[in-house]
Amino acid sequence: MVVADIDGNRAKQVADEVAASGAPVSAVSLDVRASAGCRAGVDHAVQVYGGLDVLICSAGIGQAATPAWEQPEEDWLRVIDVNLNGVWRTTAAAVPELRRSDRGRIVLVSSVAGKEGNPHLAAYSASKAGVIGLTKSLGKELGRDGVLVNAVTPAVIDTPMVRSEGSDPAVLETLLSKIPMGRLGTTEEVAELVAWLASPSCSFTTGGVFDLSGGRSTY
Ligand SMILES: NC(=O)c1ccc[n+]([C@@H]2O[C@H](COP(=O)([O-])OP(=O)(O)OC[C@H]3O[C@@H](n4cnc5c(N)ncnc54)[C@H](O)[C@@H]3O)[C@@H](O)[C@H]2O)c1
Repeated sequence: MVVADIDGNRAKQVADEVAASGAPVSAVSLDVRASAGCRAGVDHAVQVYGGLDVLICSAGIGQAATPAWEQPEEDWLRVIDVNLNGVWRTTAAAVPELRRSDRGRIVLVSSVAGKEGNPHLAAYSASKAGVIGLTKSLGKELGRDGVLVNAVTPAVIDTPMVRSEGSDPAVLETLLSKIPMGRLGTTEEVAELVAWLASPSCSFTTGGVFDLSGGRSTY
């Protein structure tokens, strides 16, 4: 496994956690805002492990809460560039290798915001809706190549993104109030679903979107 993140320390930290389970893993620092970086990540996997079976795209950024029409253009473009363009660049780099595998899987981390549109988080919501569209197109394009493509749409999961200083506690409170189960999701719960979608056990499901929302999503 290759853990890739723009923050090399974060990649190493996650890789160390994976290594504790005994799995072979290496960490690389890459920036999904550049095609060259995404290709370098794929090349690294091929060099070290001889190929690529699974791509999981989880890198993403949040945004400051603001009405859509007041959002500075550079902020809008930054969120779309990382959360949508970055996912496209990474999948574009990985698909040729995944098609060579006999068990290719792509799992894209979208958000319930992409299905419902969170108020004051328009760029984020639009970027995640774009990831859902990409999932559906890719699923159809790769259906006969044995590469299955699915997305997950978490509601609120307890991670640094949600707890960061820039996050507005009032927004978190509003999001939490929409979850019938009344709590944040955990990273373990996300990992369980992603692991299944990335596994050979997921064999007749592609272009799908899977909620982790504690009951928030209604479609
Ligand atoms: N936490 C939630 O409630 C929640 C809900 C729905 C969806 N998501 C999505 O889950 C994914 C993971 O989020 P998280 O909550 O773990 O956030 P996080 O901030 O903890 O992790 C995001 C990671 O993306 C990396 N990253 C940011 N920009 C990058 C770039 N240009 N190139 C490479 N890596 C980059 C960051 O360094 C960070 O390690 C994101 O796509 C997020 O939008 C999170």
